[in-house]
Amino acid sequence: MLEHLARKWTRKEKQPDSGMDASGKIPVHVAVIMDGNGRWANLRSLPRVAGHRAGMKTVKEVVKAADEIGIRYMTMYAFSTENWKRPRDEVDFLMRLPQEFLSTELDELIDRGVRIRMLGSRDKLPAHTLEALLIAEERTRENTGLQLNFALNYGGRDEIVKAFMEMAAQVQAGLLDPSKLDEKEISRHLYTSEIPDPDLLIRTSGEIRLSNFMLWQLAYTELWFTDVLWPDFTREHFYQAIAEYQGRARRYGAV
Ligand code: IPE
Ligand code: IPE
Ligand code: MG
Repeated sequence: MLEHLARKWTRKEKQPDSGMDASGKIPVHVAVIMDGNGRWANLRSLPRVAGHRAGMKTVKEVVKAADEIGIRYMTMYAFSTENWKRPRDEVDFLMRLPQEFLSTELDELIDRGVRIRMLGSRDKLPAHTLEALLIAEERTRENTGLQLNFALNYGGRDEIVKAFMEMAAQVQAGLLDPSKLDEKEISRHLYTSEIPDPDLLIRTSGEIRLSNFMLWQLAYTELWFTDVLWPDFTREHFYQAIAEYQGRARRYGAV
C-alpha cells in the first residue's frame, strides 16, 4: 500500500500540469497521427525535411512517456499510402528515417523491452527501409514490454482491400465458408490482427480528419485533436490527452 502510494506520488510529481491520474485508467492502445512537421519547418524558414527530423525527437520522447505510464501499444502513423504523392526528395528522406531512428534508438528500446512492428504494405518500400524494420521486428520479437507499431506505407482502405482479397482467395480455395464471415474474421486479415483496437487517437497540427488511418479499428476510439505541431508536441501534451481520455464516458452504444 505504502509502496503504491509512493509510486503514485512520484509519478504525479513528474507531471504537475497535465491533470493526468497516473494511477487511474490508462489506455491500452494509443494511436497517433503525427502531423505538422512541414508547417513547423516553414514557420522557421527551414526545408520541410528539417521538420521531419525534429519530429523524430518527439517520437522518442512520446514513446518514453507512454512506456513510463504503462501503455501497452503505441501506433505511430509515419507514412501513408497517399504520401507517395510528395516530392521525390521528401519521400526519399522519409524512407531513410526508420533506419536513422532505429540505428540510434534500437538498443535503448530493447533495454526497455519494447517490441517493434511495422503495419502497412511492404510493396514499394525501398529495400533499405524494409530491411531496417525487419531487423528491428526480428530483434524485438520476444520482447513483452510496450509494443511500438510504425504505420508505414499504411492506408486504411488499402488494408481493407488486402483483407478482402485474402478472404476471397480462401473462399475460392474452399478454405473459408462465406456464410461464416463476420467481424472477427475480417479483423484477422488486417495488419492489426493481434492488436486490440486503439482506445485513444491523437492528431496534432489542427487538422480534424483521419487521412485514411485505421478506418476499421477506430470505430469506437476516443478522438483527441490539438493545434500543436508534431515537433512541438511534448510529454505534457501527451499526458493532457490521457487526462482528457480519463474523463470520457465510453458507452459503445449502450447507456
Ligand atoms: C507529418 O507532417 C509527417 C508525414 C506526413 C510524413 P507533414 O509533413 O504532413 O506536415 P504538414 O502537414 O505539411 O505541416
Ligand atoms: C497523415 O498526414 C499521414 C501521416 C501523418 C503519416 P498528412 O499530412 O499526409 O494528411 P493530409 O494530407 O493533411 O490529410
Ligand atoms: Mg500533414
